[in-house]
Amino acid sequence: MIIREAKFMMSNSRVDQCPPPTLPEYAFIGRSNVGKSSLINMLTEHKGLAKTSSSPGKTQLINHFLINEDWYLVDLPGYGYAKVSKDARATWGKMINFYMRHRENLACVFVLIDSRHAPLAPDLEFMEMLGAESIPFVLVFTKADKQSSSRTQQNITAYIRKMQESWDELPRHFITSAEEKTGRDEVLNFIDEINQQ
Ligand code: GTP
Ligand code: MG
Repeated sequence: MIIREAKFMMSNSRVDQCPPPTLPEYAFIGRSNVGKSSLINMLTEHKGLAKTSSSPGKTQLINHFLINEDWYLVDLPGYGYAKVSKDARATWGKMINFYMRHRENLACVFVLIDSRHAPLAPDLEFMEMLGAESIPFVLVFTKADKQSSSRTQQNITAYIRKMQESWDELPRHFITSAEEKTGRDEVLNFIDEINQQ
Protein backbone atom coordinates (compact mmCIF):
# COMPACT_ATOMS: atom_id res chain seq x y z
CA MET A 1 0.00 0.00 0.00
CA ILE A 2 1.22 3.48 -0.77
CA ILE A 3 0.94 6.12 1.94
CA ARG A 4 0.13 9.30 0.03
CA GLU A 5 -0.75 11.37 3.04
CA ALA A 6 -0.43 11.09 6.81
CA LYS A 7 -1.70 13.87 8.97
CA PHE A 8 -2.05 14.41 12.69
CA MET A 9 -5.70 14.93 13.62
CA MET A 10 -5.98 15.29 17.39
CA SER A 11 -4.83 14.20 20.83
CA ASN A 12 -7.29 13.58 23.62
CA SER A 13 -8.03 11.40 26.59
CA ARG A 14 -11.65 10.52 25.84
CA VAL A 15 -13.23 8.16 23.38
CA ASP A 16 -16.24 10.43 22.93
CA GLN A 17 -13.90 13.22 21.78
CA CYS A 18 -12.05 11.10 19.20
CA PRO A 19 -12.81 11.66 15.49
CA PRO A 20 -16.22 10.29 14.38
CA PRO A 21 -15.94 6.48 14.15
CA THR A 22 -16.61 6.36 10.41
CA LEU A 23 -13.25 5.04 9.15
CA PRO A 24 -11.33 1.89 10.11
CA GLU A 25 -8.84 2.41 12.88
CA TYR A 26 -5.60 0.61 13.88
CA ALA A 27 -4.19 1.20 17.35
CA PHE A 28 -0.63 0.62 18.53
CA ILE A 29 -0.18 -0.51 22.10
CA GLY A 30 2.55 -2.07 24.22
CA ARG A 31 4.90 -1.33 27.09
CA SER A 32 6.39 2.14 27.35
CA ASN A 33 9.43 2.55 25.09
CA VAL A 34 8.66 -0.56 22.98
CA GLY A 35 8.64 1.62 19.85
CA LYS A 36 4.96 2.40 19.13
CA SER A 37 5.48 5.98 18.00
CA SER A 38 8.64 5.07 16.03
CA LEU A 39 6.74 2.35 14.17
CA ILE A 40 4.02 4.83 13.18
CA ASN A 41 6.69 7.16 11.81
CA MET A 42 8.36 4.30 9.96
CA LEU A 43 5.09 3.11 8.40
CA THR A 44 4.11 6.60 7.29
CA GLU A 45 7.71 7.54 6.32
CA HIS A 46 7.17 10.68 8.29
CA LYS A 47 9.87 11.29 10.90
CA GLY A 48 8.45 13.34 13.74
CA LEU A 49 4.76 12.68 12.97
CA ALA A 50 4.41 10.80 16.26
CA LYS A 51 6.61 12.09 19.08
CA THR A 52 9.29 9.64 20.19
CA SER A 53 11.78 9.63 23.06
CA SER A 54 14.43 7.39 24.59
CA SER A 55 12.73 8.07 27.93
CA PRO A 56 9.68 5.79 28.60
CA GLY A 57 6.37 7.61 28.99
CA LYS A 58 6.57 10.03 26.04
CA THR A 59 3.13 9.42 24.53
CA GLN A 60 0.49 10.38 27.08
CA LEU A 61 -2.77 10.69 25.13
CA ILE A 62 -4.82 9.01 22.39
CA ASN A 63 -3.33 10.40 19.14
CA HIS A 64 -5.16 10.07 15.82
CA PHE A 65 -3.37 10.20 12.47
CA LEU A 66 -5.47 10.17 9.30
CA ILE A 67 -3.91 8.13 6.49
CA ASN A 68 -4.83 8.70 2.83
CA GLU A 69 -8.08 10.32 4.05
CA ASP A 70 -9.22 6.72 4.44
CA TRP A 71 -8.20 5.15 7.77
CA TYR A 72 -6.66 6.03 11.13
CA LEU A 73 -3.47 5.05 12.88
CA VAL A 74 -3.65 5.60 16.63
CA ASP A 75 -0.68 6.10 18.92
CA LEU A 76 -1.32 5.37 22.58
CA PRO A 77 0.59 5.69 25.85
CA GLY A 78 2.43 2.60 26.99
CA TYR A 79 1.45 0.35 29.83
CA GLY A 80 3.87 -0.92 32.46
CA TYR A 81 7.03 0.92 33.39
CA ALA A 82 7.23 4.61 32.53
CA LYS A 83 9.01 7.57 34.04
CA VAL A 84 5.77 9.02 35.35
CA SER A 85 3.85 8.81 38.63
CA LYS A 86 1.80 5.79 39.67
CA ASP A 87 -1.33 7.93 39.40
CA ALA A 88 -0.55 8.92 35.82
CA ARG A 89 0.04 5.28 34.90
CA ALA A 90 -3.26 4.25 36.49
CA THR A 91 -5.07 7.02 34.57
CA TRP A 92 -3.50 5.89 31.27
CA GLY A 93 -4.39 2.29 32.04
CA LYS A 94 -8.06 3.19 32.49
CA MET A 95 -8.04 5.42 29.41
CA ILE A 96 -6.49 2.69 27.24
CA ASN A 97 -8.85 -0.02 28.47
CA PHE A 98 -11.89 2.19 27.98
CA TYR A 99 -10.71 3.14 24.49
CA MET A 100 -10.14 -0.51 23.53
CA ARG A 101 -13.54 -1.60 24.76
CA HIS A 102 -15.60 1.30 23.38
CA ARG A 103 -14.00 2.45 20.14
CA GLU A 104 -16.43 0.94 17.69
CA ASN A 105 -14.34 1.42 14.51
CA LEU A 106 -11.27 -0.30 15.97
CA ALA A 107 -10.42 -2.75 13.16
CA CYS A 108 -7.33 -4.28 14.76
CA VAL A 109 -4.94 -3.66 17.64
CA PHE A 110 -1.21 -4.05 17.11
CA VAL A 111 0.34 -5.30 20.35
CA LEU A 112 4.02 -4.38 20.25
CA ILE A 113 6.59 -6.51 22.02
CA ASP A 114 10.31 -5.82 22.26
CA SER A 115 11.86 -8.72 20.34
CA ARG A 116 14.72 -8.88 22.88
CA HIS A 117 12.45 -9.74 25.81
CA ALA A 118 11.05 -12.95 27.20
CA PRO A 119 7.25 -13.02 27.68
CA LEU A 120 6.26 -10.47 30.32
CA ALA A 121 3.16 -10.52 32.53
CA PRO A 122 1.78 -7.07 31.53
CA ASP A 123 1.77 -8.06 27.83
CA LEU A 124 0.17 -11.43 28.47
CA GLU A 125 -2.45 -9.83 30.73
CA PHE A 126 -3.23 -7.17 28.15
CA MET A 127 -3.76 -9.84 25.50
CA GLU A 128 -6.03 -11.74 27.90
CA MET A 129 -8.15 -8.61 28.19
CA LEU A 130 -8.32 -8.24 24.40
CA GLY A 131 -9.30 -11.89 24.05
CA ALA A 132 -11.97 -11.61 26.75
CA GLU A 133 -13.43 -8.57 24.99
CA SER A 134 -13.17 -10.21 21.53
CA ILE A 135 -11.01 -7.37 20.24
CA PRO A 136 -8.98 -8.49 17.21
CA PHE A 137 -5.22 -8.13 17.60
CA VAL A 138 -1.90 -9.11 16.08
CA LEU A 139 1.62 -9.09 17.53
CA VAL A 140 4.52 -6.97 16.39
CA PHE A 141 8.03 -7.87 17.55
CA THR A 142 9.93 -4.58 17.48
CA LYS A 143 13.58 -3.46 17.45
CA ALA A 144 14.72 -6.49 15.47
CA ASP A 145 17.86 -4.58 14.45
CA LYS A 146 19.13 -4.79 18.03
CA GLN A 147 20.15 -8.45 17.69
CA SER A 148 20.80 -11.19 15.13
CA SER A 149 17.82 -12.54 13.23
CA SER A 150 18.40 -16.02 14.73
CA ARG A 151 18.19 -14.51 18.23
CA THR A 152 14.97 -12.72 17.26
CA GLN A 153 13.54 -16.01 15.97
CA GLN A 154 14.50 -17.80 19.19
CA ASN A 155 12.74 -15.16 21.28
CA ILE A 156 9.63 -15.26 19.10
CA THR A 157 9.50 -19.04 19.34
CA ALA A 158 9.72 -18.79 23.14
CA TYR A 159 6.97 -16.18 23.11
CA ILE A 160 4.69 -18.27 20.97
CA ARG A 161 5.27 -21.34 23.16
CA LYS A 162 4.22 -19.32 26.18
CA MET A 163 1.10 -18.08 24.42
CA GLN A 164 0.15 -21.60 23.38
CA GLU A 165 -0.35 -22.36 27.07
CA SER A 166 -3.44 -20.18 27.16
CA TRP A 167 -4.51 -19.61 23.52
CA ASP A 168 -5.95 -22.22 21.13
CA GLU A 169 -5.43 -20.01 18.13
CA LEU A 170 -2.43 -17.74 17.95
CA PRO A 171 -2.57 -14.25 16.52
CA ARG A 172 -0.64 -13.38 13.41
CA HIS A 173 2.74 -11.77 14.06
CA PHE A 174 5.11 -9.35 12.36
CA ILE A 175 8.78 -8.55 12.90
CA THR A 176 9.79 -4.92 12.57
CA SER A 177 12.66 -2.51 12.90
CA ALA A 178 11.86 1.18 12.75
CA GLU A 179 15.59 1.74 12.34
CA GLU A 180 15.98 -0.47 9.25
CA LYS A 181 12.38 -0.23 8.00
CA THR A 182 11.92 -3.99 8.30
CA GLY A 183 8.35 -5.27 8.17
CA ARG A 184 6.86 -2.12 6.64
CA ASP A 185 5.30 -3.79 3.58
CA GLU A 186 3.99 -6.70 5.63
CA VAL A 187 2.19 -4.47 8.14
CA LEU A 188 0.80 -2.11 5.49
CA ASN A 189 -0.39 -5.01 3.29
CA PHE A 190 -2.15 -6.51 6.30
CA ILE A 191 -3.93 -3.19 6.97
CA ASP A 192 -4.83 -3.00 3.28
CA GLU A 193 -6.34 -6.50 3.45
CA ILE A 194 -8.56 -5.54 6.38
CA ASN A 195 -9.54 -2.23 4.79
CA GLN A 196 -10.74 -4.16 1.70
CA GLN A 197 -13.02 -6.45 3.76
P1 GTP B 1 6.18 5.67 24.93
O1 GTP B 1 5.43 6.68 24.11
O2 GTP B 1 7.07 6.30 25.94
O3 GTP B 1 5.28 4.62 25.50
O4 GTP B 1 7.23 4.89 23.96
P2 GTP B 1 7.03 4.29 22.50
O5 GTP B 1 6.59 2.87 22.60
O6 GTP B 1 6.21 5.18 21.65
O7 GTP B 1 8.54 4.25 21.98
P3 GTP B 1 9.28 5.29 21.00
O8 GTP B 1 8.80 5.09 19.60
O9 GTP B 1 9.22 6.65 21.58
O10 GTP B 1 10.77 4.68 21.04
C1 GTP B 1 11.46 4.52 22.26
C2 GTP B 1 12.96 4.45 21.97
O11 GTP B 1 13.27 3.27 21.23
C3 GTP B 1 13.47 5.62 21.12
O12 GTP B 1 14.75 5.96 21.58
C4 GTP B 1 13.53 5.03 19.72
O13 GTP B 1 14.51 5.64 18.89
C5 GTP B 1 13.91 3.60 20.00
N1 GTP B 1 13.40 2.68 18.96
C6 GTP B 1 12.12 2.54 18.57
N2 GTP B 1 12.01 1.61 17.62
C7 GTP B 1 13.26 1.15 17.37
C8 GTP B 1 13.82 0.18 16.48
O14 GTP B 1 13.13 -0.47 15.70
N3 GTP B 1 15.15 -0.02 16.56
C9 GTP B 1 15.97 0.67 17.42
N4 GTP B 1 17.26 0.38 17.43
N5 GTP B 1 15.48 1.59 18.27
C10 GTP B 1 14.15 1.83 18.25
MG1 MG C 1 5.09 6.80 22.13
